[in-house]
Amino acid sequence: MSNDLFERVDAYIDGLFAPSDAMLDGAVARSRAAEMPEIQISAGQGKLLYLLAKLIGARRILELGTLAGYSTIWLARALPPGGRVVTMEFSAAHAEVARQNFAAAGLVDRIEVIVGAALESLPGLVARREPLFDMVFIDADKNNYPAYLDLVVPLTRPGGLILADNVIRGGKVLVAGSMDAQVAGAAAFNSKLAADARLEAIVLQQVGVKGHDGLAVGRVR
Ligand code: DHB
Ligand code: MG
Repeated sequence: MSNDLFERVDAYIDGLFAPSDAMLDGAVARSRAAEMPEIQISAGQGKLLYLLAKLIGARRILELGTLAGYSTIWLARALPPGGRVVTMEFSAAHAEVARQNFAAAGLVDRIEVIVGAALESLPGLVARREPLFDMVFIDADKNNYPAYLDLVVPLTRPGGLILADNVIRGGKVLVAGSMDAQVAGAAAFNSKLAADARLEAIVLQQVGVKGHDGLAVGRVR
């Protein structure tokens, strides 16, 4: 079976269950205009995050890796009134485009963007002593995924979800001791997630418009 077939089926599924709208199209258009990498999640992945957030009644969501805020918009739309997404972005330029997208989407009151390296921003978030998060979505630099996992588990409530994008990388995670730091990070993350007694988890293998990759889904016990 070809990648082309997987992409066409992905488009079929997205057309039925995750049709685009002005808010999402606008976000992608501004991302393109700013010449940002087009590596945001697919519409179908966005719908899955949205559904998972609704299924657990998420009110507080943490995201690592805002990019232009496409996934953040899906997450913010799943919140009840008064809900909040805190999203961390390394690049100030990307965060600026994301802020424009949130303003255009009318979502600024629900989304807080924190600019800087998440490894440095996360301890500051802990110091704020806010309520725990219901859901965390990790979609930033893959080499730091294992460190992110250690930092977000104590920030997530029992029964809360920890999700991570790009943990299969076209199957490259099968190669032990990969020289690619992104692949090695994803593989180390998967091993850590599987071994962590505080969590129960699985990886969903995914094919489609984003190629062949995987989404990790973990639940805090
Ligand atoms: C890359 C990053 C992503 O988060 C993604 O979903 C796809 C690709 C990348 O850095 O190549
Ligand atoms: Mg990703």
